Amino acid sequence: MGKRALITGITGQDGAYLAKLLLDKGYEVYGTYRRLSTPNFWRLEYLNIFDKVNLIPIDLSDHGSIVEALKISEPDEVYHLAAQSFVEASFETPVATGDITGLSTTRILEAIRQVCPEAKFYNAATSEMFGKTGLLNGGKPLNENDVFRPMSPYAAAKLYSYWISRIYREGYKIFAVNGILFNHESPLRGLEFVTRKIANEVAKIKLGLSKELRLGNLDAKRDWGYAPEYVESMWLMLQQEEPDDYVIATGEAHSVKEFVEKAFEIAGLNWEDYLRVDKRFMRPLDVPCLVGDFSKAEHMLGWRPRVKFDKLVEIMVKEEINRWSRWLRGEKFPWDAPNYPSENKIFTRALRM
Ligand code: NAP
Ligand code: GDD
Repeated sequence: MGKRALITGITGQDGAYLAKLLLDKGYEVYGTYRRLSTPNFWRLEYLNIFDKVNLIPIDLSDHGSIVEALKISEPDEVYHLAAQSFVEASFETPVATGDITGLSTTRILEAIRQVCPEAKFYNAATSEMFGKTGLLNGGKPLNENDVFRPMSPYAAAKLYSYWISRIYREGYKIFAVNGILFNHESPLRGLEFVTRKIANEVAKIKLGLSKELRLGNLDAKRDWGYAPEYVESMWLMLQQEEPDDYVIATGEAHSVKEFVEKAFEIAGLNWEDYLRVDKRFMRPLDVPCLVGDFSKAEHMLGWRPRVKFDKLVEIMVKEEINRWSRWLRGEKFPWDAPNYPSENKIFTRALRM
């Protein structure tokens, strides 16, 4: 029989790509989602896996709903990806971010300890935890031994989540790993993140649907990789004999401005004609530079990035131009017509009663 996996946050960018990867490997995939006023399954539809995954409604602030999700799915592997993941929003809602992005990891680990202690656990940690270290070390690629100096409520919550995962690993012998992933992007990225925001606006400008691109800090540097490759590393981490923590990155840093220049170049436009700096997109604190050293992952997992900066920008801009061109021709997209999964794909606690 194939393995069973539970993915929290299956409706997000990584959740959708990971679900596809695991289905392709023969897993029975369960994913949690939260009830929203409008259904949000467009990424699963986009990847043509909407009818192949099993869905369980939960809220991360509700411990009982997490326990039920584990009892329903009986997982061999749990991938905990759900979080309030937008750094900027964490300054607006620091307490809620602490609860959902930080404390929820303990709720899940506690539930695993009680329901399925043999299950392997992946925690979505982040390069944001390094914060100011990326500046203080002069831009040297960061590895698993570098000091964490978080600069946002989001990063502080993730650092808590990182440590609680290590504590359950050492204290309760749960197979818990931390994937310290640097920024990873794709056409399935949320629209508020800078890469997709740029790609989307550039495509609209190209097609006459928009006139300008408004951004905040153009000088920030990030290590941007390609999300479908990064979810492979999550799976690899759970296939090891021993649980450990790994940095996943490309090893290259580029500024937001460089991303803008490349994106406009691909669209055949001059960026200076369209870019406006807007204070609304500045943060009270912003990590100036993040670049990662993936040598441990390469050595231990055999993982290395294939898509680098130029190719990533090209994939994203071309896909947005393609989407908007089709939209102009009257084509419908998954997000135009929100959908519910067929009933036999939704699992609730009532089915166990
Ligand atoms: P994402 O697209 O924002 O997805 C986040 C997921 O969490 C969505 O499914 C979202 O559901 C769910 N969620 C949020 N609040 C919830 C709540 N209260 N209850 C239940 N579910 C909730 O993020 P991503 O880019 O896929 O990232 C996946 C994970 O990796 C996140 O933990 C993120 O912080 C972390 N990470 C991401 C990166 C990156 O560059 N992408 C790098 C390092 C770490 P809705 O769809 O309903 O909103
Ligand atoms: N979102 C956004 N919007 N960012 C902007 C803008 C804008 O208009 N203008 C400039 N930026 C800058 C931000 O200030 C930041 O320095 C950089 O672009 C990247 O911002 P995001 O794309 O929002 O990503 P992030 O680096 O803050 O966080 C992402 O990566 C982390 C890993 O390092 C998220 O995916 C986190 O969940 C993840 O942990």
